Amino acid sequence: MIELEDFHEDILGKSMRGLSIGKNEMAERLGVQKSDIERILQGGADLKLIQSMACQLNLDATKLLIAAAKEWVPAPININGLKQFNHPFGSMLVNAFVTWCDETKKAWIFDTGAMADPITGFLESNNLQVDAIFLTHTHRDHIACLSDLMQKTNNPSVYVHELEFLEGYNPITEGFLHQCGSLSLQALHTHGHSVGGTTYKINGPGKQVAIVGDAVFAGSMGGGMVSYEDALRTNREKIMTLPDETILCPGHGPMTTVREEKAYNPFFPEF
Ligand SMILES: [Fe+2]
Repeated sequence: MIELEDFHEDILGKSMRGLSIGKNEMAERLGVQKSDIERILQGGADLKLIQSMACQLNLDATKLLIAAAKEWVPAPININGLKQFNHPFGSMLVNAFVTWCDETKKAWIFDTGAMADPITGFLESNNLQVDAIFLTHTHRDHIACLSDLMQKTNNPSVYVHELEFLEGYNPITEGFLHQCGSLSLQALHTHGHSVGGTTYKINGPGKQVAIVGDAVFAGSMGGGMVSYEDALRTNREKIMTLPDETILCPGHGPMTTVREEKAYNPFFPEF
């Protein structure tokens, strides 16, 4: 079981940074000491204070308390035609995904993770040939073994949003479509975490799947490294509007569904 990427302290930290609310300001607003806020941001579990901080940050307090109590993990997802790879990269873990068409034996790879061999080993043992590699964004952990993976998979086409263009790769924009055998895909520009952040909505492997990169994590999100406001807005407009049963494949942590995120993600208090 892959562990959740974020708990309440990460969620509060991302939200405070996103809204430019520092520890001093938060302490002042709530009439507590800066050290009280620091304790929470280091994982402290003062439930009343967590609840008050959630209200200041437009986070869902009930869902945040569930995160603090570590009471929820998404139900395991196991469908034919979709495989998650979870590789160490420095002190963290990063995901890559493979999806494939059973009839044509053509596969797509989404991000690379940090190690090509587990992916190429899986492709070989399942007799799959790579049609294309799609990148959700170009933060280092997501493209760590790109050239190695390309070399070992016969140099397939690599697609990336034009705002994160890499020399020699195919630039795409919102609405880009691609098809291969029974698989079809549409690109959605879910920026905010990164400038060219892209979600790939896929039809084919049994259910609808969306490879979301760091736009959304199970119970959290990657954070607005470029724009917190844009990250929240593009998630709301393009990911949280997908059908509830859509499987979400994040760049870190376990897979989840739109339904579970509506119920447990504190960044979306409207659900
Ligand atoms: Fe990222």
